[in-house]
Amino acid sequence: ATPIYLDCDTGIDDALALAYLLASPEVHLAGIGTVSGNTSATAAAENTLALLALAGREDIAVAVGAVDPLAATYRGGAPQVHGGNGIGGVTLEPAVARPDPRHAADMLIDLAKAHPGELRILALGPLTNLAVALEREPSLPDLVRDVVVMGGAALAPGNTTPVAEANIANDPEAAAAVLRADWDITLVPLDVTMEHVLDEQGRKRLLESPDPVARAVGEALESYLDFYLDIYGYRACALHDPLAATLLVGTVTATRAPHVPVVIDDSDGPGRGQTIADMRGQRRGPVDVPGARCQMVLETDLQVAPVLLDRLAG
Ligand code: BDR
Ligand code: CA
Repeated sequence: ATPIYLDCDTGIDDALALAYLLASPEVHLAGIGTVSGNTSATAAAENTLALLALAGREDIAVAVGAVDPLAATYRGGAPQVHGGNGIGGVTLEPAVARPDPRHAADMLIDLAKAHPGELRILALGPLTNLAVALEREPSLPDLVRDVVVMGGAALAPGNTTPVAEANIANDPEAAAAVLRADWDITLVPLDVTMEHVLDEQGRKRLLESPDPVARAVGEALESYLDFYLDIYGYRACALHDPLAATLLVGTVTATRAPHVPVVIDDSDGPGRGQTIADMRGQRRGPVDVPGARCQMVLETDLQVAPVLLDRLAG
């Protein structure tokens, strides 16, 4: 199985992605780091440990990463989207296992050195830990196989500002550094994630699942569906992080994903946090820009909801 370092801000959709990864024999979760985003890095670690305990997978190490973004102070998460505790106000039995003593960035560096050329990074939150790891170990891009990031908006509107997606908006300096680094990076932006939804019927299937993590996420999804009601006009939520997870696992495949240059606006103006992708020429179909190492996923072969439910709800 492929070794994965998961970086997340658990997070309701992060939790669903985690449930899927735990149920996927194709990958081996070699370690998990947390970052502030939907909730604080410390609360995200508690949520992650509690979910791992439910799964009986306390063997997987969870390291707390950056609480503050690179150039600012953490100002609270997104309680209106993910509840005050990051997982929709659902109370999980606190885990007995404690976080790994390392900073998440150091855990990532250690894993990259332990699996040279093999480790895949799946980033589902702000990119602070990856940026810190790049600063601490500049040869990191040579050590990892690739990086898959849920984040950004290529041509779609943002979800935090008119132009910025949350994971980028929460730490534009970090995202800029990660996009500048010399590694193969796949961005899974709002353009495609907003097209993948889970509705109330899907949530019910999770609630009836034999998998205790899936059932817990099914409960957490109650408030997430409420939040998205205004956006979709019916009870359904976007599957941002689960889509990135299934693309990494390979159970969903990108059918339109051009290699394009991407820079992040980390200036202080109204464009702060924007993913500026060079999409000129895309009207003719997927047009690769020679030399670009960032792959922008725009379309997939399958809808992610049935793929998730197939594995999590039987
Ligand atoms: C991203 O931001 C977070 O709220 C979600 O967990 C997802 O990673 C969507 O913009
Ligand atoms: Ca997330």
